[in-house]
Amino acid sequence: MFDADKFIEEAVASVKEKTKGKAIIACSGGVDSSVSAVIAGRAVGDRLLAVFVDTGLMRKGEVEEVEAMFRDTGINFKAVDASKEYFEALKGVTEPEHKRKVIGEKFIRIFEREAKEFGAKYLVQGTIAPDWIESGDGVRDTIKSHHNVGGLPKDMDMTLVEPLRDLYKDEVRQVARKLGIKSSERQPFPGPGLAVRCLAEVTPENIAVVREACFIVEDEIRKAAEAEKMKLPWQYFAVLLPARSVGVQGDRRAYGRTIAVRAVESIDGMTAAHSDIPLSVLNSISQRITSRMKDEVNRVVYDITDKPPATIEWE
Ligand code: XMP
Repeated sequence: MFDADKFIEEAVASVKEKTKGKAIIACSGGVDSSVSAVIAGRAVGDRLLAVFVDTGLMRKGEVEEVEAMFRDTGINFKAVDASKEYFEALKGVTEPEHKRKVIGEKFIRIFEREAKEFGAKYLVQGTIAPDWIESGDGVRDTIKSHHNVGGLPKDMDMTLVEPLRDLYKDEVRQVARKLGIKSSERQPFPGPGLAVRCLAEVTPENIAVVREACFIVEDEIRKAAEAEKMKLPWQYFAVLLPARSVGVQGDRRAYGRTIAVRAVESIDGMTAAHSDIPLSVLNSISQRITSRMKDEVNRVVYDITDKPPATIEWE
């Protein structure tokens, strides 16, 4: 039986013991990095700087939300707008593993820059067990190079501190609740952000399409759950597919993009079952996406595969 109080006590002590100088942490606003930040903050206090990198690949309103959340914690916090750098680095990159490596590496380089300025010797990260298990650990096959793991360059000159390394998602949430972290019930969001939900080239225009579609999926599902038409799934989002298909707009032929809706039930993200979303809810999502983005999207499909054989994200 997992004991969250005991875990917090031991994790704070362990970070305190390992971290002799200044430390920096990457905060995405997600539950993993927020919990790691609070644990590290308790361990080293003012010697910690939480840096939020706006990659340009975040969801709608997310940047503002994270800033507001950290303002409340009292932890040293800095937001860096790196969206131009990310879009530049991702030009022409479509292969999923390549994309993950580019994003992971950029992330670390930005951190090295911030860390140098702050004088940090330690990098605290919110890596959890499924991240490194699925990234291959020499024994297992690499399924996906997770952002927190696969992108790490060999020449990184900071010592890595990963307080949540042995935890699964449900355990991280238990810890978050104990720590009073607001994002404890938030659905997971991948480190590489909307880039892995954009199967077309990662451009500001394509990201804007998938960002709006994700927002609509989240909003419609949240409303349906509030109206008790369905339970809130474990994770739910939209994916922009590289396929175009023929449609009609008014009396004219259209050749538009396709959005896939994904919603799954899971405990720890290692396996998942697609959610049984009522057709009426799917219909509202489809209508709202195709009318809100009528010049871009003319088809919406629902992904009914489980994990395995699929994964939760499409890349
Ligand atoms: P997959 O797609 O591998 O996802 O079935 C399992 C869970 O992990 C999330 N995910 C990530 N989380 N860095 C993360 O921190 C990543 O690179 C990453 N890739 C996927 C995914 O959203 C799901 O909850």
